Amino acid sequence: MKYIIKDTDFSKSVTIKNITVLGSGVMGHGIAQVSATAGYNVVLRDIKQEFLDKAMEKIKWSLDKLVSKEKISKEEGNAIFARIKPIVDLGEAVKDTELVIEVVPEIMDLKKTVYAELDKVAAPQVIFASNTSTLPITEIANTTSRPEKFIGIHFFNPPQLMKLVEIIPGEKTAQEITDLTQDYVKSVNKVAVICRKDVPGFIINRLFIPMVHEACFVKDRTGATLEEIDSVVKFKLGFPMGIFELADFTGMDVIHKATVEMHLRDKKVINPHPLVEKMFDEKKLGQKSGEGFYKYSDDKYERIALSEELAQKCNPIQIVANILNNAAWLISNGASDIEEIEKAAQLGLGLKKPLFETAKEIGIKNIVDELNKLAAEHGEFYKPDPLLLSMQ
Ligand SMILES: NC(=O)c1ccc[n+]([C@@H]2O[C@H](COP(=O)([O-])OP(=O)(O)OC[C@H]3O[C@@H](n4cnc5c(N)ncnc54)[C@H](O)[C@@H]3O)[C@@H](O)[C@H]2O)c1
Repeated sequence: MKYIIKDTDFSKSVTIKNITVLGSGVMGHGIAQVSATAGYNVVLRDIKQEFLDKAMEKIKWSLDKLVSKEKISKEEGNAIFARIKPIVDLGEAVKDTELVIEVVPEIMDLKKTVYAELDKVAAPQVIFASNTSTLPITEIANTTSRPEKFIGIHFFNPPQLMKLVEIIPGEKTAQEITDLTQDYVKSVNKVAVICRKDVPGFIINRLFIPMVHEACFVKDRTGATLEEIDSVVKFKLGFPMGIFELADFTGMDVIHKATVEMHLRDKKVINPHPLVEKMFDEKKLGQKSGEGFYKYSDDKYERIALSEELAQKCNPIQIVANILNNAAWLISNGASDIEEIEKAAQLGLGLKKPLFETAKEIGIKNIVDELNKLAAEHGEFYKPDPLLLSMQ
């Protein structure tokens, strides 16, 4: 797989053939696998050999599964596996690379330390891409010597299956780097949606994370049950599952962390409900801990019984109003547009029905009225976005 771009001094070109993935955890090993499947030579780097051994085992398991399902031949599986080299030494890991995809834990100080080390050993033309879910790209980029060659590339979990990748250029990212990243995403058989501004939560988390909190408020304010709210989310809003179910599947650790990071940077994005933090503190993390909003009998994926009948018992307007207000904010602030948001929501959240179609069915005026009512009762957070006002 070859992509040619000009170096940012516009005097020589760079060809991407070799990729280094920094971090071999939940996301890193999947990104390494999809990159090797597309033909790239991949170095997978972690801080301990045992972490890499575990990651390589998972990749092998995943490739074997594709072979057994006849999605790829045994030879292809072997060739993909052979293209991934696990290496602990950072200098060696980036020696021949053109693109580094960083997938280390979501801790700002750790990311900055990793980039400081990386910046010293990577050649000046090497591009840095961060898989951060919530941290500001520009802030991390500015700690490096190459903010124009720094970009956000947000894969979703699991990278082997999820089609969407959000691309987030920082303030100084060169257009060539954004173009190249888009080409790379296409080459690994994914769909790129560009979040045009480096805003907290980018697109999907700006819709999803506040929605979890909002659903908790709906429960408090209306007395609806978890199953009633989840049924309405599934059957009336077109989500593949309920919002509490999705939160349990995602994990309260991930949701709490994203909440803190997003709220730290923008109070308008989220109205945190205390229950999320409480559940995190009590280690009620969802499916993986056996209890979240719901209880689970083991850590295997279990569906909650939701029904059209239960969906009749809850009015979805407050949930729709909040998600729509955040979508409108993204548009008003130049981060996205309706078409891109719908594409992202379809591929990233599995939404079967476009958001703005649901909004039209309910009536934009009704949604604006609901937001004004919520703002009067619960504060400025709910104030309707000017775009919604103009769409009435
Ligand atoms: N898990 C998700 O659902 C998800 C989804 C999208 C994005 N993300 C983002 O991806 C990133 C990684 O998340 P994860 O869930 O894969 O985390 P993880 O904890 O599963 O994996 C992180 C890996 O990075 C390794 N690591 C730590 N320091 C390192 C260093 N200096 N060099 C190389 N490796 C190092 C760790 O040993 C670990 O193996 C985070 O920024 C997260 O926000 C996660």
